[in-house]
Amino acid sequence: MSAFEWNKVIGAILAALLVIKVVDIAGDALLHAKVPEKNAYPVAGIAPAQPSGAPAAKKAEVQIAAIGPMLAKASADQGAQVARKCTVCHSFDKGGPNKVGPALWGTIGHDIAGGSFSYSAALKAVKGKWDYETLNKWLYDPKAFAPGNRMAFAGVKNDAERAALIAYMRSRADNPVPLP
Ligand code: HEC
Repeated sequence: MSAFEWNKVIGAILAALLVIKVVDIAGDALLHAKVPEKNAYPVAGIAPAQPSGAPAAKKAEVQIAAIGPMLAKASADQGAQVARKCTVCHSFDKGGPNKVGPALWGTIGHDIAGGSFSYSAALKAVKGKWDYETLNKWLYDPKAFAPGNRMAFAGVKNDAERAALIAYMRSRADNPVPLP
């Protein structure tokens, strides 16, 4: 290659590097965009974003929609699709095994942490039975329901999905518990 051609090659490389740098800077500017103090529109159950630098305000109590009215419209078949998020760790089958998490046949109506599984102390400390409302809270945000529990799952935040999932779990039992 002649020196002239080399110049063209080097010129092209420099141009490419320049483009990369510009994209990099523009990307930084986008990522570090300021969070607005108020949500553009209110979202039920979501605390407003804190302006960066402001002292952390008291965590807003999250209001989870009551499950009763949602269950009336929920489809267990759709819930079976949602339950795919769970089956890496759980079996919903009758006589199914414990996997990473406990077997979930007939969960509703059973004691919380009442199966033959080595539950965390955090979950065992929660007293009572799994009813529709406790399951609703657990599946919305497992960490908030029983801080320190071992279910590594963020939760199902979409109300309709969660209701469908609970309707599906209701059907995975010998005697499905009557709807609330
Ligand atoms: C990454 C694995 C994992 C995923 C995914 C997961 N779980 Fe769990 N789950 C666990 C573990 C582990 C426990 C036991 C937690 C403990 O003892 O602290 C648990 C506990 C539970 C319990 C309590 C059972 C009992 O006997 O008291 C329920 C109910 C439950 N999970 C439902 C679900 C549902 C429904 C999904 C899907 C939306 C899901 N889990 C997704 C691992 C998982």
